[in-house]
Amino acid sequence: MLHLQNLRARFKELDQGHVFRFWDLLGEVEQEALLSQLKRIDLPALMTALAAMRAREASAPARLSPAPIERMPLAGGNSSRWQAARQRGEQLLSEGRVAVVVVAGGQATRLGYPGPKGLFPIGPISERSLFELQAQKLRRLAARYGRPLPWYVMTSPSTDAPTRAFFKQRNGFGLDAADIFFFEQAMLPSFDFEGRLMLATPGSLSESPDGHGGCLTALLASGALDDMEARGVTTLFYYQVDNPLVRMADPAYLGFHAEASAEMSCKVVRKAEPAEKLGTVARIDDSLGVVEYTELDDADRFETDGDGELVYWAGSTAIHLFETAFIRRVAAEADRWLPFHASAKKIPTIDDEGRPVTPEAPNGHKLERFVFDALPAAERTAVVETARAVEFSPVKNAHGSDSPQTARRDLVTSFRTWLEESGIPVPPDVRIEFDQSRVDGPDDVRALGIRDLSDAADWIRIEPENSGATP
Ligand code: UTP
Repeated sequence: MLHLQNLRARFKELDQGHVFRFWDLLGEVEQEALLSQLKRIDLPALMTALAAMRAREASAPARLSPAPIERMPLAGGNSSRWQAARQRGEQLLSEGRVAVVVVAGGQATRLGYPGPKGLFPIGPISERSLFELQAQKLRRLAARYGRPLPWYVMTSPSTDAPTRAFFKQRNGFGLDAADIFFFEQAMLPSFDFEGRLMLATPGSLSESPDGHGGCLTALLASGALDDMEARGVTTLFYYQVDNPLVRMADPAYLGFHAEASAEMSCKVVRKAEPAEKLGTVARIDDSLGVVEYTELDDADRFETDGDGELVYWAGSTAIHLFETAFIRRVAAEADRWLPFHASAKKIPTIDDEGRPVTPEAPNGHKLERFVFDALPAAERTAVVETARAVEFSPVKNAHGSDSPQTARRDLVTSFRTWLEESGIPVPPDVRIEFDQSRVDGPDDVRALGIRDLSDAADWIRIEPENSGATP
């Protein structure tokens, strides 16, 4: 009882007393559930963070300047530096110093897929899931460097059970269960436009996952960081589940990160056009950061140099490297480094009589933390360029750009390039798929002595473009 009175008083004091408005109509179980949800919410901290968010939104825009970027050899970068970086990264991999984290707790609203996005069938012929393609690459890395890379999989309350069940059903895609660590991100409540907590039902608040930035606090809270450090891991490769082209734990990237003694690093691609919906990596005031595409002003977005090239061409692929000690520091001071961002959304709620309401227009704000907000906390960083065709083709939308169709097309194009670069002719109008647990890149094609498609029938599948299966 005392608990209830204290909690009620605390919420009332901060103008959130309405969350108890249906209390007397709730059954005992519903009351218990509401109480435990409310107890989890650190309301004073949340209100302070919201006030800080509003102050930040009202403050003067930041001053941008281009970030120093390690250019890829194709774009004028120095090949011998890349070679040296690659060797350094390979050393880290063979010492077992690298782990991988995937953030897979998102709601996949734009894709409209009913399950977790990682289960989405993406293999151009096999229809293997995003998770399985990624697991194949981890198997290949473990075989190549003689050390397994522990895989930390971040879920959220709605993706956790189906994700674990899927991994179990597929026997961890051939990986050792001891090297897969699931952890759940936290949830944040939603607010209406008047700043009041929203109710999803008379007995529960509306909540949503706390954004990909939540992975930094969840890595600490779940014990994943302790697990990594106990294994001797010092560097964590971070990627998002929706990019089937990701080059897992790319040695050259690891090498540049290590050479710079960086605490956090970014991989960038040239934007396809100035208005592309990609974050821009730049120096913001005095530190490295990512400006969201909605927040980049037009003067910066379209600015060109003397050669007519975009000044802010570097789009973020959301592929990062972190030192584990850095994550520990940022997560311990999350309110300082990982502010909330609010986005207006249509949030299912209830009316004054407690009846469900499905809004037709945005009616409130969901709150998120962004992983790249940790960049200014890093004393040293590295920014490394890659080619989009090589490792970036996210599945965001159901159709059009950044969709399953474009991702499958880009997978096929990249497999074709691996073959052609190795002097193996490929007929036109075919779909191609590699078993990436065996052959993951042109180096493997050469190292395995594949000279002809018939040499590799088990590992490389080829089918005519229009032979059934997925478009
Ligand atoms: P997006 O911001 O693209 O979100 O997340 P999404 O859930 O995939 O799709 P929409 O916006 O609902 O259409 C980029 C990556 O961050 C992860 C996603 O799973 C994806 O890998 N993410 C996002 C989380 O893990 N948790 C979150 O709270 C948000």
